[in-house]
Amino acid sequence: MGLNYYKIKKNVLKARKLVIKGTTAAGSGHPGGSFSMAEIMGCLYYKHLKFDPKNPLWDDRDRLILSKGHASPGLYSNLAVAGYFEPAELETLRKFGSKLQGHPDLKCPGVEFCGGSLGLGLSYSIGNALAARLDNKNHRIYTVIGDGESNEGQVWEAAMAAVKFKTDNITAFLDRNFIQQDSYTEKIMPLDENLEGDDLSLMWKDASRWKIGDKWRAFGWNVIDIDGHRIEQIDNAIKKAKQAKGVPSIIIARTIKGKGVEHMEDNPQWHGKAPKPEMVPIINAELESHFVIAPSIIAGDMSNLEKEVKKCVVGRADYIHLDVMDGAFVPNTTFDHTKIKELRPLTIIPFDAHLMINEPVKHVREYVDAGSDIVTVHAEVCDESSFGEIHDILQQNGVGVGLAINPDTELPQWSHKFIENLEQLIVMSVVPGQSGQKYIESSHEKTQRLVSILKEHNFEGTIEADGGVTLENAGQCFTDGARAFVGGSAIIGQNDVRGIIREFRDTILKSRRRLLIQKANELGGKELVNEWIDLHVVGEKKNQLIQIAKELGFN
Ligand code: DX5
Ligand code: ZN
Repeated sequence: MGLNYYKIKKNVLKARKLVIKGTTAAGSGHPGGSFSMAEIMGCLYYKHLKFDPKNPLWDDRDRLILSKGHASPGLYSNLAVAGYFEPAELETLRKFGSKLQGHPDLKCPGVEFCGGSLGLGLSYSIGNALAARLDNKNHRIYTVIGDGESNEGQVWEAAMAAVKFKTDNITAFLDRNFIQQDSYTEKIMPLDENLEGDDLSLMWKDASRWKIGDKWRAFGWNVIDIDGHRIEQIDNAIKKAKQAKGVPSIIIARTIKGKGVEHMEDNPQWHGKAPKPEMVPIINAELESHFVIAPSIIAGDMSNLEKEVKKCVVGRADYIHLDVMDGAFVPNTTFDHTKIKELRPLTIIPFDAHLMINEPVKHVREYVDAGSDIVTVHAEVCDESSFGEIHDILQQNGVGVGLAINPDTELPQWSHKFIENLEQLIVMSVVPGQSGQKYIESSHEKTQRLVSILKEHNFEGTIEADGGVTLENAGQCFTDGARAFVGGSAIIGQNDVRGIIREFRDTILKSRRRLLIQKANELGGKELVNEWIDLHVVGEKKNQLIQIAKELGFN
């Protein structure tokens, strides 16, 4: 698909960590709204936006107008990752004399608009859009507005004007995180409907209650509704918006304020507050331990893989794991790139193609052309030269690079030089060949060992546990170091795929919470553990954390 999924994701992580660094150093700032728009910014900066950090005022650049300017750390962090200035400069955030002020200022290269006085960015974007038209330029204007910001009447005046002037070179994003400075948007000035109580989750999940898209439609905009943390959905929406002729587009991105750090998520307190320095290593560990669920469709009905893909869509899978077997590298045969090509139009969920085939170098292009987002080949059938070729082809096409090792295989010496560019290492925990086998217990220890080897070689990718992963062992696999979880019989083999994926997430989340509590204990003993737990005020998280701390003997 050429999504460049992994590159975007790695940079989104870097940017989130810089937001933490900057706001902590400043002792103030807005992490919540920076995190709700983190994936949107990532898709723009690392895929769609035309810009040149060496020439910030290049005439043909696309314009990114951050109307909700208080989320400036989320802008600066991406400008740094994109190469406008050194990431270390984030430490000067909000300091006297710094170009990184609390609200964006034009003296910072890459900043297009002094946002922060809310409600103005869309009007300014219309001016830019009309200027581009007069100058016969085809650059685009991307505008990010907030939902709290939408209380401002000028937003709606601009909404009318953009349609009147047919500014189809504008793509706006509504960062719909449901929270504004003082409380939930649906309490202060509902965009959808009044919120009774403080539980946002029902509102977030129930599409029938979202009215804001209808408001924009009524104004004449091309409206695209998405989950604003799914890279593939943002990417697809940006592409669709580019195709709309004669009307401006708005992407209504449902997001979570503070997304990525549990105690900040959905918590109005984190609209504008900085983390305490002692919490930073724990927060970074949390950001680094993001995980994904990848159902393997061969565990379903092989005569109707289309149906299995649809189950993954309904189940909200993160990836779809595609096990290609050639009857030679492994005794079984499943399907090849032609099937992947047939399945591709059914969904935009990233395709995680695992090639259990001989001579992968001869076939890798076919899997790129079929629309894979990552292609993983086996170390047993590669050497330095053929893997080098595979690596180059995948990178040139914006496809993730993966390497897999069988239970009896260690990482070969030749692979070391590629580790820093690997997006994924599949650690097989069954002898590959079929789904439904039992997890080989020694894989736990092997994964733990691999983590340190990978670290030595600057691995920035993800370990994917593949084979015999179940609800019983997934938590331990996470503790070992796996961050992607293939589930064949344990997910696709089940009736309620959506329910089981949710259970997988909950189980792994529990392991993650345990890991973070252990980290807090290492860094500051029981006192820090309790402080960490006390940050978790929204939802049920706190009770589970208290329970885990008890189990560990920390309180
Ligand atoms: C094994 C495949 C796995 C397998 C997973 O050869 O690579 O992806 O299908 O299925 P379970 O989870 O049932 O082991
Ligand atoms: Zn597999």
